[in-house]
Amino acid sequence: MDALETLLTRHSTPSRQLGEPGPDDAQLLRMLEVAVHVPDHGRLTPWRFVRIQGAARRALGDALADRLSQRDHAISQDKLAKERSRFDHAPCIVAVLARLMPGHKVPESEQLQSGSCACFSLLLAAHALGFGAQWLTGAAAYDAHVLHLLGVGEHERVLGFIHIGTIHGAQADRPRPDPRTLLTDWHAP
Ligand SMILES: Cc1cc2nc3c(=O)[nH]c(=O)nc-3n(C[C@H](O)[C@H](O)[C@H](O)COP(=O)(O)O)c2cc1C
Repeated sequence: MDALETLLTRHSTPSRQLGEPGPDDAQLLRMLEVAVHVPDHGRLTPWRFVRIQGAARRALGDALADRLSQRDHAISQDKLAKERSRFDHAPCIVAVLARLMPGHKVPESEQLQSGSCACFSLLLAAHALGFGAQWLTGAAAYDAHVLHLLGVGEHERVLGFIHIGTIHGAQADRPRPDPRTLLTDWHAP
């Protein structure tokens, strides 16, 4: 795909519309090669990737649902079932973790920004290889118990779960902002 066409045609596919086949090992590694091409102030490599596939997806959904029901006894069965199946759809989910170096001269916010770029690059690379993808967070990205289960360290953060798979169903882009309304020229006072 032409580079600009790739950039201009990317849009998210809801994870429930993603199915088999997912990327094979070589395709996923190709996507990760793209992801590690992001700008990285200080060359800190302030991110890493955790793949969740196969039965691990339902195990993560179960852990999330159990946790939510412990925290909220009034939670509905429908909501719990939705949480249990949250990771069931896309065959491949990549958790992008920020690995922060507290106190480093490169501010943590910049380390996080680099990780966000890695998330977006994964979306773009998935699209370039013909897959659909969606960047999701939700309670799983922030719940201490789920993070522990995922092996997220003290100075790490889940920046997103990138759900990747083959698109099932019709897809349309959403209206995009007009960049002309967002651009101003700064002039020296
Ligand atoms: C950091 C981040 C977290 C997100 N988390 C969620 C989420 O948990 N649930 C959701 O429906 N969309 C979430 N989104 C939005 C979708 O990934 C997606 O961007 C949105 O549906 C718009 O689609 P588009 O990528 O085609 O513009 C998140 C986006 C970002 C940048």
